[in-house]
Amino acid sequence: QFTPVITIDGPGGSGKGTIMLRVARYLGWHTLDSGAMYRVLALAALKHHVALEDEVGLVRLAGQLEVQFTAQPDLSDTHTLLEGQDVSVELRTEATGSAASKIASLAGVRLALLNRQRAFRRAPGLVADGRDMGTVVFPDAGVKIFLTASVEERAERRYKQLKGKGMDAKLVDLIVEIADRDERDRSRATAPLVPAQDAQLIDTTGVSIEKVVAQILQLVSANT
Ligand code: C5P
Repeated sequence: QFTPVITIDGPGGSGKGTIMLRVARYLGWHTLDSGAMYRVLALAALKHHVALEDEVGLVRLAGQLEVQFTAQPDLSDTHTLLEGQDVSVELRTEATGSAASKIASLAGVRLALLNRQRAFRRAPGLVADGRDMGTVVFPDAGVKIFLTASVEERAERRYKQLKGKGMDAKLVDLIVEIADRDERDRSRATAPLVPAQDAQLIDTTGVSIEKVVAQILQLVSANT
């Protein structure tokens, strides 16, 4: 049986995560935060002293990765458990994002996580966010979105997000870190950050979340 998928790709801080949750909540569909998988694997590597360049060690670790993503039914509060331990706070730091982007450039690591990601496709449907959801993981998705926003605005959103969680952050540092991470994600050989040919591009700079969500829901209703 065919299970529909909506993919939402884009750079860090483009609003993917929030928008994915709202669209999924509206439709009553499942969610996949694929970035969280790379982030969890990066944390597992730090915990088990596997170097971020050690492709063989990372692939082995990915095969044994014991991770659980839990969410409230209204998707408001999501938690991530690594080997039973709640890592939701460390998961969101820019240091973890940067480590995730390093391991994400290794082809073996991407392949090792591919089937885990595809397993999230379950009835009645899936909304998946990441960098290569529309290009590699779910190329047959019925609706593909590619979100962009200026680096300043994305850094500001991240800043507010981190501060909101009571974490320390500096806006200038975030601008540099996010720009670095974008560059690495865009220029890597395997599954670089590029829009799928059939993706709808939405620039979210200065646009409210509500507006973007409404635009996506319109596309979904026109395509299903
Ligand atoms: O989206 P998020 O900031 O959580 O992603 C963290 C990192 O994981 C990204 O910078 C990217 O390098 C990597 N990633 C990826 N492919 C995805 C999702 C995330 O390479 N589908």
